[in-house]
Amino acid sequence: MFFLLHLLLIVSLGPNLLEVSADGGQFTYSGFAGSNLTLDGTATITSGGLLQLTNGTAYLKGHAFHPAPLRLRNSTNGTVQSFSVTFVFGIVSIYPDFSAHGMTFFIAPGKDFAAALPAKYLGLTNVQNNGNASNNLFAVELDTIQSVEFKDINNNHVGIDINGLQSLRSYNAGYYDDKSGEFQKLKLISRQAMQVWVDYNGEKKQINVTLAPLRMTRPLKPLLSTIYDLSTVLTDQVYLGFSAATGRVNSRHCVLGWSFGLNRQAPAIDIAKLPNLPRAGPKPRSKVLEIVLPIVTATFVLCLGSIVVLVVRRRFRYAELREDWEVEFGPHRFSYKDLYRATDGFKDKHLLGEGGFGRVYKGILRTSRMEVAVKRVSHESRQGMKEFVAEITSIGRIRHRNLVQLLGYCRRKGVAAGLVYLHERWEKVVVHRDVKASNVLLDRDMNGQLGDFGLARLYDHGKDSQTTHVVGTMGYLSPELMRTGKASPLTDVFAFGVFLLELTCGQKPIKENGQSGGGHVVLVDWVLQHWRNGSLMETVDGRLHGEYDVEEAALVLKLGLLCSHPFADARPAMGQVVRYLDGVTPLPELASTDLSFHVLAMMQNKEFDMSTISYPDMVTSFGTISSLSGGR
Ligand SMILES: *[C@@H]1O[C@H](CO)[C@@H](O)[C@H](O)[C@H]1NC(C)=O
Ligand SMILES: *[C@@H]1O[C@H](CO)[C@@H](O)[C@H](O)[C@H]1NC(C)=O
Ligand SMILES: *[C@@H]1O[C@H](CO)[C@@H](O)[C@H](O)[C@H]1NC(C)=O
Ligand SMILES: *[C@@H]1O[C@H](CO)[C@@H](O)[C@H](O)[C@H]1NC(C)=O
Ligand SMILES: *[C@@H]1O[C@H](CO)[C@@H](O)[C@H](O)[C@H]1NC(C)=O
Ligand SMILES: *[C@@H]1O[C@H](CO)[C@@H](O)[C@H](O)[C@H]1NC(C)=O
Repeated sequence: MFFLLHLLLIVSLGPNLLEVSADGGQFTYSGFAGSNLTLDGTATITSGGLLQLTNGTAYLKGHAFHPAPLRLRNSTNGTVQSFSVTFVFGIVSIYPDFSAHGMTFFIAPGKDFAAALPAKYLGLTNVQNNGNASNNLFAVELDTIQSVEFKDINNNHVGIDINGLQSLRSYNAGYYDDKSGEFQKLKLISRQAMQVWVDYNGEKKQINVTLAPLRMTRPLKPLLSTIYDLSTVLTDQVYLGFSAATGRVNSRHCVLGWSFGLNRQAPAIDIAKLPNLPRAGPKPRSKVLEIVLPIVTATFVLCLGSIVVLVVRRRFRYAELREDWEVEFGPHRFSYKDLYRATDGFKDKHLLGEGGFGRVYKGILRTSRMEVAVKRVSHESRQGMKEFVAEITSIGRIRHRNLVQLLGYCRRKGVAAGLVYLHERWEKVVVHRDVKASNVLLDRDMNGQLGDFGLARLYDHGKDSQTTHVVGTMGYLSPELMRTGKASPLTDVFAFGVFLLELTCGQKPIKENGQSGGGHVVLVDWVLQHWRNGSLMETVDGRLHGEYDVEEAALVLKLGLLCSHPFADARPAMGQVVRYLDGVTPLPELASTDLSFHVLAMMQNKEFDMSTISYPDMVTSFGTISSLSGGR
């Protein structure tokens, strides 16, 4: 990331265009990228196009020259002609108030400054040659240290130097305001870019030096103005350049742009193309980074925040409830998330059935690809909760190949879901029959095996009392269960019998009577009626179109009647039922005596019209029938 940004930075700054006119009379550098300057010492040109004369290392010097020599003298009479120089510079010290030592613009006879000294000599002269006329040196110094030896006025001055560092003329760094004429101080080490103009008038032998902040138009009044005939100083062939030197303090002396004109004004420097000054710190940072970094950071923080919110929301969506009793049965517990995913978020298209206790969904477990039924139970009351716990702790331990196996459960604040596995055997039923009906049967089947802790109990305490569910469930309740409210394995055999009949006939335990227009017919009675008339097979579901094993259907119908016998004692045990169904034990031929009490119950049943009574009455009536027929 940072590497990329860095690349971006390099590209965005790019190399500044070099505009050096081939004409010997002028040149312009608006930045120094790609330029042909002659450099020595610490001088470098940065990738950004900045001429850095010193690199921050103490007691060193650096020089930069326009590569080609120039002739400033008139070829006819030999006088130095008028010339104009301007440059943009900046001094960056590690300290805001102290810097060393300074820099110069100079005109010299050659490029060899190897003998020059750093620090107060500014890389221009040395102890021996300072001030010697044979130096043929003209310079403008930007001095940031007061050197008493050279009679410096202060540590922030501009001076005109001839052959040495004792200035011919010098003054405080600053400029005269065009309007007020007042002097405005400038701080050379302010780390701000400033512009200098050096003008020489060959006729008047006048030297003007002007200083101003960058982007300010050149002040009319020069900072320094003196008369000095440079014809007495400069050689025929001269080199133009810069020098800079550090002392004890780590400073950078930089030149951003430069132009020269002979017998004309120095061409304007393109300020927009100038490179940036380095920052005061040891590692210069780009503006791009300054802008991009906060954005990247903000984006990162925002992303992180969003992720946290998403995770929290997911946690909340799949939030579950855990209690002490669950520790023992921990392995049975499924995460709500897994069940939510298995059923596609409990979508209606996966709904297998709906009972008084809740809804049952078909699902596929993600990891094991196991097909499961997921029952969603609402437990509004503590009573319901108790039953739920009882169911889990009991069913969870039972395993039988003919049973719907409870794989586990899941609990969630407000909502709980139980999980049952559709046994192979019942899967076939699911394939041939109405899925919704078969699902209800599965639940009943499970109840039968679980007795007191079964789902019927759970249903009993549920608050859901929708009439449709009640009627549907009513048909499964054995007479003694209606009377005593006490479930037993045999009450479940009764329910199983009803289930067998429902399955084979394809009808609800208590069905609408189409013939007499309204009214209800109890399925068991209806099948029994047909059995007595010798037309048992007519009760088989017409939707099968005769595509079934007649013997099997007869077996199931008869077994259904036997199981749903009003006398609990007359019903076979569940183990026996399974043996009959598996064909291990043949079902004994039913004599009318075997079902005599059945018939009696049916006769009693006919004494009232079910369509005219309300639900609570119906419960009472059933109870009455049971007590009559059961005789106990
Ligand atoms: C500065 O320049 C000198 C001489 O070229 C070099 O030895 C030194 O390592 C440089 N320092 C930095 C910080 O670039
Ligand atoms: C660079 O300067 C050298 C002399 O210092 C010269 O020979 C060369 O031609 C120059 N190159 C360009 C591109 O100006
Ligand atoms: C050089 O000097 C001669 C003689 O004084 C003068 O005629 C000429 O114009 C000068 N050339 C320039 C470029 O000023
Ligand atoms: C000035 O420099 C020249 C040449 O290096 C030398 O001969 C001369 O003695 C120097 N003058 C002084 C006053 O040092
Ligand atoms: C120097 O500045 C003075 C005052 O503005 C001006 O009259 C003169 O022409 C300038 N000389 C040069 C060489 O620019
Ligand atoms: C050379 O010519 C210039 C004009 O181009 C003039 O100003 C100057 O005084 C002349 N120098 C001499 C020594 O005649």
